[in-house]
Amino acid sequence: MITLALSKGRILKQTLPLLEQIGITLKDDPFTSRKLIFATSRDDLQCVIIRATDVPTYVQFGAADVGIVGKDGLLEHGGEGLCELLDLQYSKCRLMTAVRVEDLDRPKTQKRLRVATKYVKSAKRYYESQGIQAEIIKLYGAMELAPLVGLADEIVDLVETGNTLKANNLVAKDVVAHSSCRLISNAAAMRVKHASISALVGRLSAVIESQ
Ligand code: PRP
Repeated sequence: MITLALSKGRILKQTLPLLEQIGITLKDDPFTSRKLIFATSRDDLQCVIIRATDVPTYVQFGAADVGIVGKDGLLEHGGEGLCELLDLQYSKCRLMTAVRVEDLDRPKTQKRLRVATKYVKSAKRYYESQGIQAEIIKLYGAMELAPLVGLADEIVDLVETGNTLKANNLVAKDVVAHSSCRLISNAAAMRVKHASISALVGRLSAVIESQ
């Protein structure tokens, strides 16, 4: 049996059609079911559907053999014990800094920059690499609100269409990282279940290459 960890939310809507193309369908509808473990059309494969931030952890500790997660989540996790098997080429977006439109040309001050994000590690790495002193404030969502209410000077968040920034009168500044969905595994699962995982990688690669 292979356990595949899938990220909830926006990524899942794009992952299910991809799995369907390689003949894998879930036996229950993950958008209405409260289940966490889903049987599939294949007797040798089950899916767990969890928060994107938890996918690398489940795979790292072998609770799932493989997982599908954004590169942004992998960078934040650190990738310890994980192998990145395939760039699945969807959910493409950028992790970016963003500020209020009126702050775009803000003169540099000695004041320590306050940055709100859920990508704490990626943000720390980025500001350190730029030689900028930043106080990172951890949030769990709606990062765009922070500069509007004075919680932070800027944010680090995912930008896909740019609609959320625009709707909140914010503007993207610098790219911290590029992201797309990745298929990951852990080294032990790769050794023990090599044939099944390789077959999965092969089928997914064929679909991606044909697109
Ligand atoms: C993500 C991200 C932004 C938005 C960007 O949030 O945090 O808020 O999408 O997308 P856009 O550029 O296409 O507007 P998501 O909706 O995934 O929810 P989250 O706040 O739970 O991360």
